[in-house]
Amino acid sequence: MCEEVQKKKVLSCIQPSGMLTLGNYLGALKNWLNMQDEFDCTFAVADLHAITVRQDPVKFRSQIYSTCALLLALGLDPNKSTLFIQSHVPEHAALSWLLSCNTQLGEMSRMTQFKDKSAKHADNVNVGLFSYPVLMAADILLYKPDFVPVGADQKQHLEIARDIAERFNRIYGEVFTIPEPYIAKTGAKVMSLQDPDKKMSKSDDNLNAYVAILDDRDTIIRKFKRAVTDSEGGIYVSEDKPGVSNLIGIYSAVTGKTVKDTESEFSGLGYGDFKLAVGEAVADELAPIKQRYEEIIKDKSELERIYKEGAARAEKVAAKTYFKAMKKVGFVL
Ligand code: TRP
Repeated sequence: MCEEVQKKKVLSCIQPSGMLTLGNYLGALKNWLNMQDEFDCTFAVADLHAITVRQDPVKFRSQIYSTCALLLALGLDPNKSTLFIQSHVPEHAALSWLLSCNTQLGEMSRMTQFKDKSAKHADNVNVGLFSYPVLMAADILLYKPDFVPVGADQKQHLEIARDIAERFNRIYGEVFTIPEPYIAKTGAKVMSLQDPDKKMSKSDDNLNAYVAILDDRDTIIRKFKRAVTDSEGGIYVSEDKPGVSNLIGIYSAVTGKTVKDTESEFSGLGYGDFKLAVGEAVADELAPIKQRYEEIIKDKSELERIYKEGAARAEKVAAKTYFKAMKKVGFVL
């Protein structure tokens, strides 16, 4: 008898807030795309999460579209993976309520991202910003994934999702799978080009600090030329050379060369030439992605077909889990 081997399941989401950066690409998205053959992947654009900070409605809508289009341009294949928009599957918000009533204020108060974000948006410390990890737990638990690829800044949120799931299962009976974090074998942590002790962020006020995946060639090269290094000279990775180390990491990640090879390739060169070479390599890598993106975003009806089909597929799974949870809690269905 031919037994089909079930692929392990993977779930991840990305917020449509601001333009995705080289950091998102090299640090996370490249890994998502590499997982598509080995795993049964579900990826969502987390629009509900994005309104925990205030969004301009017109920009917000266009960012949701462009995030979907960009994921496709990067190589997310809707025939292999499920791509959808979080708010199109209402079970996310609905399960989030069930989970909220089973999550303690005390455990949520420990979340470091809430502390950082509420300091940054002091004029809008809303309840959603606080309960954001519960919604994220719902995103995850609905699909019973084996693995969730997350960056270091989301590890604490994944841990609380596991805690919430374990507690729910203990109180009401088995509903949720306890997901494991997925730590990719490769994946560069890309730092800000202006302050290399900080992570590259799409919400940085300094536009020179990050490279957007859709920046044009001249902009990319200009930003790399302006990248902060140090006054010592010498192109090698070292703790006291965060700027140079970051550029070496980026170059290695886009070219697929090892850090050692990169160091020897550039040894003896001045910073000016080095920064230009990194900028050109990044521009070469991103150019075809930008071109594909321009084509995809032009065809809104095809884009809509893809994300609607994704939502329909996702909802089949999500509804099953959600109703099971409702039933266990005692709701009349
Ligand atoms: N909070 C995540 C971020 O900002 C995005 C996210 C939402 C997510 N739901 C998720 C990531 C579920 C993994 C799984 O990066």
